[in-house]
Amino acid sequence: MIRAVFLSHTAAPSGAELATLRLLTALRESGVVDPSVLLTAPGPLVDRLRGRRIPVTVCGNAFDSTALTVSGSGPLRLFTGAAGLVRLGVRLGALVRAEDADVVVAQSTKALLMGAVAARRAGVPLVWQVHDRVSGEYFGRVMAFALRALGWSTARGIVANSRSTLRTLYTRGRVAVIAYPGVEPIANPARVAQRDPGAVRIAMVGRLTPWKGQEILLRALPLLRHRPAAVHLVGGTFFGEQDYRAELERTAAELGLPVEFAGHIDDPGPYFARADIAVHCSVIAEPFGQVVVEAMAAGCAVVAADAGGPTEIVRPEVDGLLVPPGDPVALAAALDRLIADPALRTRLGAAAHERSADFGITATARAVTGVLEQVTARRAVRAR
Ligand code: GLC
Repeated sequence: MIRAVFLSHTAAPSGAELATLRLLTALRESGVVDPSVLLTAPGPLVDRLRGRRIPVTVCGNAFDSTALTVSGSGPLRLFTGAAGLVRLGVRLGALVRAEDADVVVAQSTKALLMGAVAARRAGVPLVWQVHDRVSGEYFGRVMAFALRALGWSTARGIVANSRSTLRTLYTRGRVAVIAYPGVEPIANPARVAQRDPGAVRIAMVGRLTPWKGQEILLRALPLLRHRPAAVHLVGGTFFGEQDYRAELERTAAELGLPVEFAGHIDDPGPYFARADIAVHCSVIAEPFGQVVVEAMAAGCAVVAADAGGPTEIVRPEVDGLLVPPGDPVALAAALDRLIADPALRTRLGAAAHERSADFGITATARAVTGVLEQVTARRAVRAR
């Protein structure tokens, strides 16, 4: 058994953390990896992990790791933030050693810095599981470069959530794999038949944050020739995004369209099952896009932004449609086409459900296990 400590700076139920929850559940069941979690902040994920019998330690009193934000931090704040992460890493190192772990797996960029220190202190290898594209458009060019360099120099293994994410990293001489975040098997979705054009329901699921592009959907809606019966925006605000939600609500109210904000929902499956069409419209390249697979698993007709992970998931015209990111006119055209054509929606939705089976959690767990085996075996050889 490989004892792997998964490290994260947040216990918010956002995409990367939910992916980790499913992965650890599958790893635990595999019997090859014995996973545990170290978190530097409390949050809803703690109980959900424990509910799946995954041991969790929360170690977050000394330094609020969430204070170091990616955007808008001046150099001084960045430096003090980084210094705080290093200090916390030292403490985490003691915990990793106490757990007698074989490997540390960092789940975020902040965890990468803490994990690098912790793994070194504990004398075990570090794996960086990358959920974000380490690109200039997301992190800024200087920060992206620094993170790539940090990852390359400290992590022996790299797990990327898509080909698109992997391409943003330095991997020379490292064990590097793609492990698509898998979904848990769902039986045939209990969904009603695709509705008539006048009764169509649209759902968009994702954290309410500017780069996820909820605004693009709101700007596309007034351009539609066919008015949907309902539009559901499902998603929470976890990282200081309340202003964005308020702005979206104002825009939606001005539209006079049936837009509802559902907030965060632990399992968006039922929303997808009740929707005819699911929209994904991130304005920058989506690293992976679990919601796209979840919508497909539920048999929705999917429109997704044509950049990053969704281009590896959706086969256009076969199991969904892709539209250029950040383009409300193109999104409206795709939606009009779908709304007008229930047969097209039915065909795409059925193919989408089948396609979603290619993204199962067992394959994810297998790919991650492979990396853990390689980096720990290498360590064993060196120790001899
Ligand atoms: C992050 C990414 C998202 C991905 C998830 C799981 O939330 O933004 O695209 O699906 O991590 O890796």
